[in-house]
Amino acid sequence: MVRCGVVGCGVIAPTHIVGIQSVENAKLEALCDIDVERLNRRGEEFGVAKRYTDYHDMLADKDVDLIHVCTDHASHVQIVVDALNAGKHVICEKSAGRVDADLEAMANAAKAHPELVSSGIFQHRFVKQNCAFKELVDNNKFGQMLMVNLSFCCLRTNEYYQKDAWRGTMAGEGGGILINQAIHHLDQLRFVFGDIVNVCAVCGNLAHQGVIEVEDTAMFTIEFASGVLGSVSATNASATRWRTSLVCTGTQATLEYANEKPIYVDALDEALKQEIETALTPPEKAERIVGKSYYGSGHTAQIADVVDAIENKRAPKVSLIEAINSSSLIMAVYESARNNGAKTAVRKY
Ligand SMILES: NC(=O)c1ccc[n+]([C@@H]2O[C@H](COP(=O)([O-])OP(=O)(O)OC[C@H]3O[C@@H](n4cnc5c(N)ncnc54)[C@H](O)[C@@H]3O)[C@@H](O)[C@H]2O)c1
Repeated sequence: MVRCGVVGCGVIAPTHIVGIQSVENAKLEALCDIDVERLNRRGEEFGVAKRYTDYHDMLADKDVDLIHVCTDHASHVQIVVDALNAGKHVICEKSAGRVDADLEAMANAAKAHPELVSSGIFQHRFVKQNCAFKELVDNNKFGQMLMVNLSFCCLRTNEYYQKDAWRGTMAGEGGGILINQAIHHLDQLRFVFGDIVNVCAVCGNLAHQGVIEVEDTAMFTIEFASGVLGSVSATNASATRWRTSLVCTGTQATLEYANEKPIYVDALDEALKQEIETALTPPEKAERIVGKSYYGSGHTAQIADVVDAIENKRAPKVSLIEAINSSSLIMAVYESARNNGAKTAVRKY
C-alpha cells in the first residue's frame, strides 16, 4: 500500500484526492495547506482526518510515502526538493517550475535520489487515443513527417486572474497561457513527436493589460530533433473556452486532431485513412472526470502508474525529468521572446 499526502487543497486537489481514492494499493493519509479554511474544507469534504498546515510536518510523518505537490508554481521546487531529501516519493503538478533555476534544482534533486520515484503530472499522456497517436507516429504511419501545427484557444478572464495572488505574475506563476494552460499541449507535442531543440518566439499581453504581467498570447516556430518543423499559436483571451487543434502533415497522411478527436484525416491510401481514424477515435464509454472537463480522466491513471512504479521499483511513465523538459521548452520560448524572437536552443535536463 502506498500512503499519499496531498500538499495544496485548492482547485486541482479534488482531482488528486479522488484519483488516490480510486486506485487500489493507494491510501490518502493526509492533507496539507497553509490556508486552514481550505484545508479543513477539503478534509471534511473527503473525510481526511490528518491535516497539516506546514508541509515539513507531513514530510516528517512516517506514514506518508508519496507527496502530491498541488500548490502554486513558485512553491513547487522547494516542496519537491525537501520531499525527495526527506525520502518521500513525489508527484508534482505542472509546471515543474517557473524559471531555469527551479528546473535545475528539481532535476538535481531527482537525479540525487534514483531510489525514489519522482513524476510530473501530464495526465493527457494517459488518454488512450493520445497513446495511439504516438504509436501511429512511431510506426511512421504518416510517412515522413513534415509539419506539426498547434493552435490553442481558451478563455481566462480578468476575474480568474484576480482570484488568487499568484496567478498572472512572473514571481508566482512564471508566465501566462504557455506555462499554465498550453503546457499540456506542448507536452503532447514532445510526447508524440519527440524533443524540440530550437524555438523562435513572440509573446504579448493583448487583452489583460493592467491585470497580468505575463503573456496571454504567444506564437513560435519549432524545430524538432527529428528535423520536423512546426508552429504553435496560443491565446487565453478568446471567446472559445477550450479548443486545441493539432494538424500534422506527413508524406502519406494528414490529420487534424482537435480536443483529442480526429476531425480530419486524409491519406494517399484509403485503408491507412481508416486505420488512423479508428486508432484515434475515443472510447465510447468515457472515464470519470473530476474537475473541469478538459482536465480529462488521466490523473487517476497517472497516479496508478506512480503507485505501481513505487511498488515495483520501476521508473514511472512520466518521470519528473521528462516533465521538467516540457517546462524547459517554455523557458526557451520566453527567452526567445525576450530576445526579439532570436532562435533559442531548448535546454535538456
Ligand atoms: N493538471 C491539470 O490539469 C491542472 C489543472 C489545474 C491546476 N493545475 C496545477 O495545479 C497546481 C495548483 O493549481 P490550483 O489551481 O489548484 O491552485 P490554487 O491556488 O487553487 O491552490 C493552491 C493551494 O496551495 C496552497 N499552498 C500554497 N503554498 C503552500 C505551501 N507552501 N504549503 C501548503 N499549501 C500551500 C494554497 O494555499 C492553495 O490552497 C498548479 O501547479 C496548477 O498549474 C493542474
